[in-house]
Amino acid sequence: MAPRKIIIDTDPGQDDAVAILLALASPEDVDVLGITAVAGNVPLELTAKNARIVCELAGKTDVPVFAGCDRPLGRDLVTAEHVHGKTGLDGPSLSDPQMPLQEQHAVDFIIETVRAHDTGTITLCPLGPLTNVATAFQRAPDIVEKVQQIVLMGGAYFEVGNITPTAEFNIYVDPEAADIVFKSDVDIVVMPLDVTHKALVTKPRNDAFRALGTPVGVAVAEMTDFFERFDKEKYGSAGAPLHDPCVTAYLIRPDLFTGRHVNVEVETSSDLTMGMTVADWWRVTGRPANAMFMGDVDADGFFGLLTERLARL
Ligand code: BDR
Ligand code: CA
Repeated sequence: MAPRKIIIDTDPGQDDAVAILLALASPEDVDVLGITAVAGNVPLELTAKNARIVCELAGKTDVPVFAGCDRPLGRDLVTAEHVHGKTGLDGPSLSDPQMPLQEQHAVDFIIETVRAHDTGTITLCPLGPLTNVATAFQRAPDIVEKVQQIVLMGGAYFEVGNITPTAEFNIYVDPEAADIVFKSDVDIVVMPLDVTHKALVTKPRNDAFRALGTPVGVAVAEMTDFFERFDKEKYGSAGAPLHDPCVTAYLIRPDLFTGRHVNVEVETSSDLTMGMTVADWWRVTGRPANAMFMGDVDADGFFGLLTERLARL
C-alpha cells in the first residue's frame, strides 16, 4: 500500500518531537508533506523553531515547516512550560536549526495541500491545540469533505483532565477550535489521556532508547528524562506518558489501539469544565457518533515499534 500522505500539526513539546521522529522514520507508512506549527506548549516562535530542530535531528531537512496561528481563536494563549521547560524541548542539548521556516502561513499550506490532492488522500495529524485546523476549516469550508481522516491527540474521558480537573491541555487551550473540528463531520480518531497515560516510558523502555546509541536515541532518552519528572511527581506514575506518538503510531500500527466509535462534544461555555471532552463512551445519549475514541493501547507493542523505528534515524 502507498504511504499515507499526512500533515503534522504540532506544538513541540518533547512528546510531539518523538511523534514527529516516528513519522519521519517510517516513509513506507507515512509521507510527511509538511509540518505546521501552532502555539501551545510554548509560544509559536518556539514551536516553529522546535519543529525544525526535530527535522534536523532526524536528518530530514527537506520536510517543509510552516508557522501558523500564534493564539487560540477567541482567548489568550495558555502554555505549559511547567511540563516541557522554557524551550519546550528541555532535556537534551540541541543546536538552533539551520533549515529555513517556510514563508507561507501554516493555515494556507493546509488549505492549499488539501485542495491540490484528490478527495480522501490527506490525513491531518494534530498534536497540539486545534487552532490551525479549525482556522483552515473556517476559511476554506470546501476542504473539510476532502480530508481523509483526522488523527489527533486530545481530550479524555476516564482520565478526565490534566491541565484542569476536567480538561486535557490541547482541547483546553482552544476549545472553540476543538468544537469546530469535532462538529466537522470528518472521520476523526482521538488519542485521549485514557490511552496516552498507558503509554508510559518506564526505565527499561527509556534505557532501550538510550541504548540505540545514536543522536536520536540519546536525545529521546534525555527528553523523556526531563519530561517525566512532572508526571512522576503528579501521578506517581512509572514514567512520562508519550501522548503524541500515539497518533503517529496509529498510522503505522492501528491494531495496537482499541476504542469505541462514539459521540464526543466539547464544553465551550462553562468556566468550571471548560474544554472538557464529553465522550458518550456508554452510548447513553443517542447523539450520533462523530469520533473513534480510543481507550487502550498495547504498550509493549507501541514501545517496540517506537524503538525499532527510531533506530533507523
Ligand atoms: C498534550 O499536551 C501537551 O503538553 C502534549 O504535547 C500533548 O500534546 C497532552 O495533554
Ligand atoms: Ca503536543
